[in-house]
Amino acid sequence: MPLPYNQRTTYCAEVGADYVGKSVLLCGWVHNRRDHGGMVFIDLRDRTGLVQLKFNPETDPGAHTIAGRLRSEFCICVRGHVAARPEGLANPNLKSGMIEVNVHEIDILSESPTPRFPIEENIDANEELRLEYRYLDLRRTPMQKALITRHRIAKEIRDYFDDHGFYEIETPFLTKSTPEGARDFLVPSRVIPGTFFALPQSPQLFKQLLMMSGFDRYIQIVRCFRDEDLRADRQPEFTQLDLEMSFVQAIDVQNIIEGLIARLMKKILGVEVKPPFPRMSYDQAMAEYGIDRPDTRYDLRIRDVSAVAKRCEFNVFLDALAKPDGCVRCIRVPGGAEMTRKEIDTLTEDMKGIGAGGLPLVKVAQENGAVVFQTGIAKFFNPQTTAEMCAASGAQPGDLLLFAADRVANVCKYLSWLRETVAKRRNLIPANQWNFLWVQDFPMFEYNEEDGRHYAVHHPFTAPRDEDLHLLDTTPAKAKAKAYDIVLNGIELGGGSIRIHRTEVQQQVFKILHLTPEEQTAKFGFLLEALRYGPPPHGGIALGLDRMVMLFTGAASIRDVFSFPKTARAYCPMTQAPSPVAQAQLDELYLRLNVPAKPAK
Ligand code: AMO
Repeated sequence: MPLPYNQRTTYCAEVGADYVGKSVLLCGWVHNRRDHGGMVFIDLRDRTGLVQLKFNPETDPGAHTIAGRLRSEFCICVRGHVAARPEGLANPNLKSGMIEVNVHEIDILSESPTPRFPIEENIDANEELRLEYRYLDLRRTPMQKALITRHRIAKEIRDYFDDHGFYEIETPFLTKSTPEGARDFLVPSRVIPGTFFALPQSPQLFKQLLMMSGFDRYIQIVRCFRDEDLRADRQPEFTQLDLEMSFVQAIDVQNIIEGLIARLMKKILGVEVKPPFPRMSYDQAMAEYGIDRPDTRYDLRIRDVSAVAKRCEFNVFLDALAKPDGCVRCIRVPGGAEMTRKEIDTLTEDMKGIGAGGLPLVKVAQENGAVVFQTGIAKFFNPQTTAEMCAASGAQPGDLLLFAADRVANVCKYLSWLRETVAKRRNLIPANQWNFLWVQDFPMFEYNEEDGRHYAVHHPFTAPRDEDLHLLDTTPAKAKAKAYDIVLNGIELGGGSIRIHRTEVQQQVFKILHLTPEEQTAKFGFLLEALRYGPPPHGGIALGLDRMVMLFTGAASIRDVFSFPKTARAYCPMTQAPSPVAQAQLDELYLRLNVPAKPAK
């Protein structure tokens, strides 16, 4: 009679001392096998962890013979008696570490070849291989933990929003372009030849329409699709915690999110965080950190030293300052004068790697009671400019000053990179610190000199600040938005805004974004029409769920918190998607391919 595997007693790691003397029926995978003096020991694994099985040739010769055939990853079912482990062999760190199961009966439910990588906590297998055999990779404890934590977070989120009067409402995947700054994934329509759906980059317009329908408070844990360059914290399809609220200001959305984060931190990590979180303007973030998602766990703030730099006879500074919006800014590295030549050379080379011409620097020292600069560009400073530079940068003897000189946007890029890199290399980032931060007052638009056009910094549905409304007519680039991002330790967790709920403002914003009235109607006619029917003031936010899970689990890559992620080339090595399709399918969709031949190498 085969063992009734559907009548499993409990999960492996849950068999503890309270089971001693009892009979159990367990299922799982062979984690490893050891033979000791005729006994066979198996660690049996399921989603809870391990339990030790013991096969005794004297008492249970039949089961022992079968155990001899077991190999890693065979799927088995066993029946046996739980016994306390002999003195000295117990593992008090595990519930099942106090016991072992003397197996009387065993069924091999299925066999397995040796996997291409071990099913262990830490492995050094190539990621492409792990993704090709993702179902095996997911048997590993850290992967199981990550996906289970993900489930817990999603459940907490749903409970929290339910408690606060939100409804979860689904929105379409086959839809029209919802611009969030990436390319769309397109799906051809068979029924209406020559037309395409776009997969949503976010449910942005639908959630606004739900406010216009009177739902008042909406959330959705929802898939979004963006065809963009992938990085360690991006995937082409990812999940947002998306929400929208009616009759609110930014502070109301922020309060709801702070409450959620405090609850998640407490329930998932046991960490207390105390709202309200600090607020920082976009302008301050860019000036002091060079980036709109500052990591405030360490200082190394950027200082503008253009006024002093102007009086140094150093051409790199002078050339930069002659450029439109040119500037010279620096970072003071406390105690950085001790950095070795090699460390500094590596930093300089890496700076060049991100596009900077070099890395001008000085070490700050004291000679005969006076502060002096040494090495690097020290010779371009006289005693007066040295003193002024120290005052402007806050430099003290023993420090290192690192400069960037160029147009503001480049200087921000170089110095934000430098801040992060120096903090990492000099171990300045404290462990176990959770610095949540709201960055707000973003500009409405970004001007692109190359094509002479404005682009929305958040998205085109974001409302300008009331006091900046008049700037839309004259100098839109100066208008600030009612937009806010939530940042944790330098990572953008989410972003949102109060939306435009007046047709004429929405049309004006579209116009600034170079949409003609015809294009406005073609792309967003339904929104403009809906805005005529008593829209409530509304706003919301979306948080990257994957990024949240990544931070909560300490995963190194966003891919480690997805069940079946894509590679950096947006490819799935397991299913081999995307893949060519049959000509008949293309014909049905009226599509003809025009793929250029691969260039000769
Ligand atoms: P936004 O574009 O800022 O806003 O996206 C919100 C959050 O989604 C996460 N995110 C991603 N996560 C993984 N992979 C990606 N490719 C990816 N792209 C974005 C980030 C980001 O902060 N509709 C607006 C929200 C709103 O205004 O309410 C929106 O989508 O954590």
